[in-house]
Amino acid sequence: LQIKKRINEVIVSVKAVQWTGSSIQLIDQTKLPLETVYLDITETHALVDAIVRLAVRGAPALGVCGAYGVAMAMLEAEQKGWDVTQQDAAIDSIRDARPTAVNLAWAVDEVRPYVAQGLAKVIEVAAAIEAADIAANLQIAKLGADWILANTPDRPLRVVTHCNTGALAASGRGTALGVIQELADRGKIELVYADETRPLLQGSRLTAWELDQAGINHVIQVDGAAASTILRGMADFAIIGADRIAANGDSANKIGSVSVALACHAAGIPFLVAAPVSTVDLTTATGDEIEIELRDSSEVTQLAGVQTAPTNSKGFNPAFDVTPAKYISAIFTEAQVIEIAKGQTPESELS
Ligand code: MRU
Repeated sequence: LQIKKRINEVIVSVKAVQWTGSSIQLIDQTKLPLETVYLDITETHALVDAIVRLAVRGAPALGVCGAYGVAMAMLEAEQKGWDVTQQDAAIDSIRDARPTAVNLAWAVDEVRPYVAQGLAKVIEVAAAIEAADIAANLQIAKLGADWILANTPDRPLRVVTHCNTGALAASGRGTALGVIQELADRGKIELVYADETRPLLQGSRLTAWELDQAGINHVIQVDGAAASTILRGMADFAIIGADRIAANGDSANKIGSVSVALACHAAGIPFLVAAPVSTVDLTTATGDEIEIELRDSSEVTQLAGVQTAPTNSKGFNPAFDVTPAKYISAIFTEAQVIEIAKGQTPESELS
């Protein structure tokens, strides 16, 4: 009961993206866990900046941000006397702020056709996208937890997760972390290994913060420890989120995810992906077609602004990797569990 109450507090108190009626309120995730700072955003350039520097991040949260971003750009256009071309360019800049998470472009494209019907209609459509994400989070958690309990040993489970996939990354409880929270509600979690998730530490800064608030037993491990944890039999399964899932099931997620998948494959334990249907992109045939965001070299050569590498060395900083479907046991969506290991694909199940 206590855990449940705490989880509800997390849902209520951590709202990654909130439409206020005239602005977008974001919790600045770059400041967590040390400071809780909210940003009140009314200008397109500030929203794009927040997306690019990961003040708001996580595929479903980016989608909701993009949807309300269209409304915000319409208000800004009115205030600044922009013409249609300027307003279109502003909406484009939000849509294209980050390339890998398909939810961002998807949500902007969903809302955009309603611009001609006025602000109230656009806000209504954006709110519907947010509500659908909250509902999807709950359903993914339920379906995912059921699948895991049917396919893992009957005892409290040890799980590896990578990046942050909780309330900070979505509209409700989150995706992979929502499944973990559901299992914890059912008394089935012994320990969560949260990969720290270099270079921007979404695991140690954000996932550990959410797990701590929810009262779920966890440790933070460096990314390089994950394969060893898995191969030494210290985990029962791994679960991650996704930024884009191709028609064949190949799944893009935070850099480091594919290493976890390979280790699970070698150890013979389930490697699971949890994501809403809005993250599935049936127009992308395979993972080879997914654009991988390349971020600034300094995120690798510096730590919290302190230079840690020779100044002449350049960092290589792909923000995502693609796990081939053959290493994924199942994908949990709100529509159904897609059993990749049994031959199902997003294309066969969702089209
Ligand atoms: O660069 P980020 O922090 O936006 O990357 C986020 C991830 O990789 C998440 O795992 C993914 O978006 C799923 S969030 C439910």
